[in-house]
Amino acid sequence: MYSLRRVTRPLPTFASALRSAVSGAVLAHDELVTLLQARSSDFAALHSAAAAATKRVFGDEVSMRGIVEFSNACEKRCTYCGVTAYDRKFLVSHEQILECCEYMHRAGYRNIVLQSGEIASEQRIDWVCELLDKIKRRYTFERDRGMCVVLSIGELSRRQYERLFDAGAQRYLLRIEASDRQLYEQIHPTDGNHSYERRLQCLRDLKDIGYVTGTGVMVGLPGQTYDNLANDVAFFRDNQFHMIGLGPYIIHKDTVMGKSIISRTTQKEREETAVEAGMTTLNMYNVLRLQCPYINIAATTALETLKRGYKKLALTGGSNVLMPIITPKQFRAGYQLYEGKKEVDMDREETHREVLKLLNDIGKKPVFTKWNHPPLFMHKQRQELNP
Ligand code: 5AD
Repeated sequence: MYSLRRVTRPLPTFASALRSAVSGAVLAHDELVTLLQARSSDFAALHSAAAAATKRVFGDEVSMRGIVEFSNACEKRCTYCGVTAYDRKFLVSHEQILECCEYMHRAGYRNIVLQSGEIASEQRIDWVCELLDKIKRRYTFERDRGMCVVLSIGELSRRQYERLFDAGAQRYLLRIEASDRQLYEQIHPTDGNHSYERRLQCLRDLKDIGYVTGTGVMVGLPGQTYDNLANDVAFFRDNQFHMIGLGPYIIHKDTVMGKSIISRTTQKEREETAVEAGMTTLNMYNVLRLQCPYINIAATTALETLKRGYKKLALTGGSNVLMPIITPKQFRAGYQLYEGKKEVDMDREETHREVLKLLNDIGKKPVFTKWNHPPLFMHKQRQELNP
C-alpha cells in the first residue's frame, strides 16, 4: 500500500498539543505528530490558530515572487522528478529572461526566482553570473527599488555559491526533499551522484555565505510516515531556515518512482493518498507557522495541482508567499516536474490576473514592490550589525 502511514501509538491530545503550539512552546515530537494528523474540526482549529499567527506578523500581506524556469537540462536523476523526462532540452536566453524581468518590473514585481535543472559546470555558473550582471545593470540590486534575485539551481560547490552571491544573488532555494537520511536515500539513485551529506553541506554553505536560505520537502512520498514529517518540521525549526517551500509529491508517469507506484497501486488508492497528502501539506504550513512565526512560507503550485482551491486555503492559514509562474509559455510544457501542473497552458498575463483575483477573493493584499525578506533573516542581520 502506498500511503502516509498514521502513527498508532498513544499520542498527546489535539487540544493539549494546540495549546502548547499557540503558547509559542517548542513542540515535542509527538505533539507535532498529533497536529500533523489533525482532521475535520481539529484541522479547522489548527488552521485558525495559524491564520492568527500569520496575521500577527504579516497583517493581510502576501509577498509575490515571479518564477522563471529557465532550463530543463539536469545532471541529476532523482526518482520522483519529471524534469529529465523531456527529450527536448531548452535554455531560455538571457534576452528572453530579461524580457521576463521587464514584464515583471512593469507589473510591479521586485523578486525574481530563477529555477532550473542542475548543471554544475563552471560554464553554467559563468552564464548565470553574466545574467545577474545584466539584471543589475538594468534594474540595480538596491533593496525594494531594484530586483532581488532568488536562485533555485541545485547543489553546487561552496566556491560556486560564493561566486553567485558576489554577483548579487540574495536568496537560494534548495529543498532537503526528505530530512530523514534513509528516506532521502530511498528516493535517490545510488549512483554516487546523489548524497544526503552533500545536500546538508550545501544548505550549511548557503546559510553561512549569507543567503536568505529556503528549503522544504515533499509530502506523501512512498514509505514516508508522520514521524518523518514531524522530524522535517523540527529540522526546519531547529536549523532556522528562513523560508520554506513544500508541497505534495505528485506522480509523474515517466519517472522511476511514478512507474513503480502506478504498477502496484489502484487509481483509487492513489487518489486517497493524494487527498491525505493535500491535507497534510496544509497542516505542515500551519504547524510551521506556529513553530516558526517569522519565516516565509510559500503556497506551492504542486498543492494547487493536487486540488483546486488549496492554494487559497494555504494563504488563509500559515502561508504568506505566492510564486506565480512567469516562464514564457512556449517553454512551460517542457518543465513539468510532475503531471497536471497548473498554469502550463496559461500565459503570464493570465497567471497574473488569476493570482490577483485569488488574493482579492480571500481579502489579502498582494505586495510586489517590497523585497520582504523574512523577518527571521532581517532580525538576525540587525543583531549581527548591533550586537
Ligand atoms: N512532485 C512534487 N514535487 C516535485 N519536485 C520534483 N518532483 C516532484 C514531484 N513529482 C519538487 C522537488 C524539487 C522542486 C523543484 O520540485 O522538491 O526540489
